Formats: sequence, structure tokens, C-alpha cells
Amino acid sequence: MSDTTAPRRSRRARKSAETVDVAADEPIDSEAGEVSPYELPGPQRRAKTRKAERGYYAPVFQGAPSTTRQSSVLNTALIGPVTGTAGVANGRDMLSHSLITHDPVTAYNSTPRLISSPNSIVCGGVGGGKSSFVKTVYVTRPLVIRYRRAVIFDKKARGGEGEYAELVREWGQGEPIRFTTDGSGSRLNLLDPLIVSQIGDAGTYRLLHAIVRIARDGARIDDWEEEAARSALKRTLATYDGRRAPTLADLLPLLGRVDDYSDLTEHARDRLHQAGLGVRFTLEGLLDEYGGMLDGDTSENVNLTGKLTSFDISQLPTEGPSSHVVRAIGNQWMLGRLRTDPGWQTTCINEEGWDMVDGPAAHLLKSNQKLSRGVGLNNVFVFHKGLDIPLDSPGRTVISEAQSIYVFRQDRKEDADWAVRTFGFDPSTATVLQNLAPGQFVFKYGAVPETHVEHVRSSIEVGLTDTDEGMRGDRRRDDA
Ligand SMILES: Nc1ncnc2c1ncn2[C@@H]1O[C@H](COP(=O)(O)OP(=O)(O)OP(=O)(O)O)[C@@H](O)[C@H]1O
Ligand SMILES: [Mg+2]
Repeated sequence: MSDTTAPRRSRRARKSAETVDVAADEPIDSEAGEVSPYELPGPQRRAKTRKAERGYYAPVFQGAPSTTRQSSVLNTALIGPVTGTAGVANGRDMLSHSLITHDPVTAYNSTPRLISSPNSIVCGGVGGGKSSFVKTVYVTRPLVIRYRRAVIFDKKARGGEGEYAELVREWGQGEPIRFTTDGSGSRLNLLDPLIVSQIGDAGTYRLLHAIVRIARDGARIDDWEEEAARSALKRTLATYDGRRAPTLADLLPLLGRVDDYSDLTEHARDRLHQAGLGVRFTLEGLLDEYGGMLDGDTSENVNLTGKLTSFDISQLPTEGPSSHVVRAIGNQWMLGRLRTDPGWQTTCINEEGWDMVDGPAAHLLKSNQKLSRGVGLNNVFVFHKGLDIPLDSPGRTVISEAQSIYVFRQDRKEDADWAVRTFGFDPSTATVLQNLAPGQFVFKYGAVPETHVEHVRSSIEVGLTDTDEGMRGDRRRDDA
């Protein structure tokens, strides 16, 4: 052993001896007491100068003289990870290409708590990739986690049904719960025992109040109407207590009854009577139009089966209050239903859910925030833009309280500026928002500054989230 290693050592010794053949004793030129960096001997760059001359090595680059301070800018900083690795994979950071993971439930339950509200906002222009993102990151990916489920209010039609229908069939158990105006779909009872028992008389009144306002296109109702509606509801619930579940039709005849108000003047009683009749006419109008959907007990198929449930409201007319009514009652029903399954975490997706944060339902949502957390519910609101939201709307609070924000491309500058103002982004992010490609978004959670992220989908997910078949004419080619 020692015989073989000895000569090698000597060869190495010779090698290192050869490397010293570049003269290092050139004079250091100094002008006016300053050392010129051009004149300083550089380090030995090539081990064998003779081999280098014969082209054995790559050419030696001429170094650029610089100072430490100047060259520090060339030293790219390590970019700290924006998120940890806990939660659900969202995509990759466009700057560092590192993985971005986030899931409001995981972030809310972390110690220390990373976000104070489990609600999320997904907004952006048409075709930006919002639904693809929600379908994967908020619906299918978390399904593998124990005791997690998703409920979707599916508003956008695709091939005669909601755009989540295929997903529900593939990953959930059973069919979407369909709502139609012709009575062939499912029904929701505003006075369902699950609703009344969960939110109590006062909560049920808030729901009734919201439904009347929705039916009147958002118009406020005055004090007299409020009193008439409250007393009719109280009477209805007392009359049917212990018998059967009352329905909206049972409430109607009691609106306008003033027998309990004997202490009021004749004039006041008359005014109250008329106010009650006004509310009754509004609700009668609603039942006339959507009786099959609202009149009677909640249908048996309205239930949370499996891990994925969808309320398919895609076939309800865009004009008119029907889809808003189903959303408002459906949300309350769900709160009651969730209480019967303690321990589950439920993500409720409100696709095209602008009316939930802008209309009368926003009041309900705001007052239910605490209740929602209590039953493990987190809401995801998906909408296009938020510029039109009135200053005094409770929807503003709902939006500003959400702590997981995803903004997809906003074509118009004013919409991008709205997002910057509302979510506290850096002003330069407005330009980023206007130039995002489909599937890219600006993400912010809690107090962590925003990041530019690219959503990455697997091949299966690409198939499940493609919404371009109409534009490509796939159906036509199939028929041919
Ligand atoms: N991560 C992605 N990478 C590349 N392309 C994507 C990605 N996500 C979505 N897209 C493309 O964008 C198209 C529209 O996506 P999607 O339907 O999710 O948009 P949207 O924002 O929900 O639109 P709308 O406002 O009309 O509901 C998809 O069919 C797909 O082609
Ligand atoms: Mg969409």
C-alpha cells in the first residue's frame, strides 16, 4: 500500500510545484498612493499554463474589476419560501419556482395561527382560471384529507348542468342536487327544522328578512313590515311547535294578522296590517313563481352525502331572485346540517357568488361568521370583480375579513386598482394583475405580502377542469 501511494504523492507534489510558474512578482503600480486593481496579480486560474496554451482548457475570461459593494448586487439573494409545506399544494412561486402550499383550514389550525379567518376570496376576469383553481385546490385535492368535505353552489352551466356535476359524480357519492323553476328539481323549506333549531327564532327571522329583500331586488323593508314579519313568524313557529315542520305557505296567512296588538290605536293597527299584507304579497309572488322549489318540506335528496355535494343552481334563470334565494336558504340549511356531523371541516364554494357578498344575503353571512367557525365551515367566494360593492354593504366586511386571497387576471385598470386597495397589495401589483396568463394569480394570506403564483395541474386535473370545449367545438366533432 505504502509502495503504491508514495509515487502518487510525489506526482501531486510535482503538479503543485508546476502551478507556481506564473510570475507573481510583477510590480504593484501605485498612483498618488492608490493601488490600481488592474495591476494586482490575480489568482492562478489554470493549473498548467502550457496545457492551457495548447487549448486544453476553456479560455480564461478577462475579469471585470469591481468593488465588494458593487458586486454584492450580482449575488442573488436566497428567496425565502412564501409558505411552508403544510396544507394543500397550490402551485409554484413565479419568482423562485418554489412550491406554494396553502389551505385555510390548516393555516387556521396552525400554532401560531397563520390566519384569523378561514374564508377565502377568489376573483378575476372571465377565463382567468378561477374555477380550475377552485376545483383542484379547494375541492379535489383536500378530499384525501380525513374529515374534509366540500359543498358547492354551482352556478355556471356546462352541457345542461352545473360545471361541477362531473366532478361530483366522479369524486362524490351520488348526483348533484338540482334546482329548477318548473318544479322537477329539489325543494328547500325556509322553515326547515334544521334551520330553525340551529339559528333559532331570531336567526330564522333574519333569513326571512333576507328572502323578502331578495324578492324585492334588494330594497330595504321598513320598521312596520319588519314587525309584521317577525310576529307572523313567531306565531307560525309557536303554532306548529311539536306538530310538524311549518312551511312558507303556513306563514303567509298569518302575515297581516294584528289580533295581538290590541294596545295599538286603530290607525296603527291598520298600518301594521297593511305592512304585513305587503310582505305577504311579496312572498306569495315568490311562491307563485318558484312554488316547486320553495313550497313544502325540504326534499329528501337534499343532504350532505359523501365528501362532495353540489347544489346545482345552474339551470335557474340569471334574471330574478331564484338562485339567490336557494343560496341563502341552502346556506342556512347547511349550517344546521353541519351541526349534526361534529368533527368535519366543510369548505363551501360559492361559484359566481357575488350576490352572497353584495346582496341582502351578506347580512346573513356576516351574522353567521361565528356560527360557521363553530361548525367547521369555511367559505370560498368566487366572483369577477368587486368595484361595484357599496361602501356601507356588510359584504365589504366579509371581503376585508377574508384572509386567503387569490386574484386572477383583471383586465381593466380600475378593477386591478380595486384589488390593490382592498387587499392591501403593493401598488406595482396592479400592473402584474393586468398581465396574468390563465392559471396565474396573485396570492396573499394573512399578513404575508402577496406572491405571483402559477397554478400547476396534473393531467387528470387538466381534463377535469377544461372549460374550453365549447370554444373548440369538441361536441360538434364528436357528433360528426
Ligand atoms: N393552471 C392553468 N394553466 C393553464 N391554463 C389554465 C389553467 N387554469 C385554467 N386554464 C385555462 O383557462 C380556461 C378557463 O379556466 P376557468 O374556467 O377555470 O376560468 P374562470 O376564471 O373560472 O372563468 P369564468 O370567469 O368564465 O368562470 C381553462 O379551460 C383552461 O384552458
Ligand atoms: Mg369559472
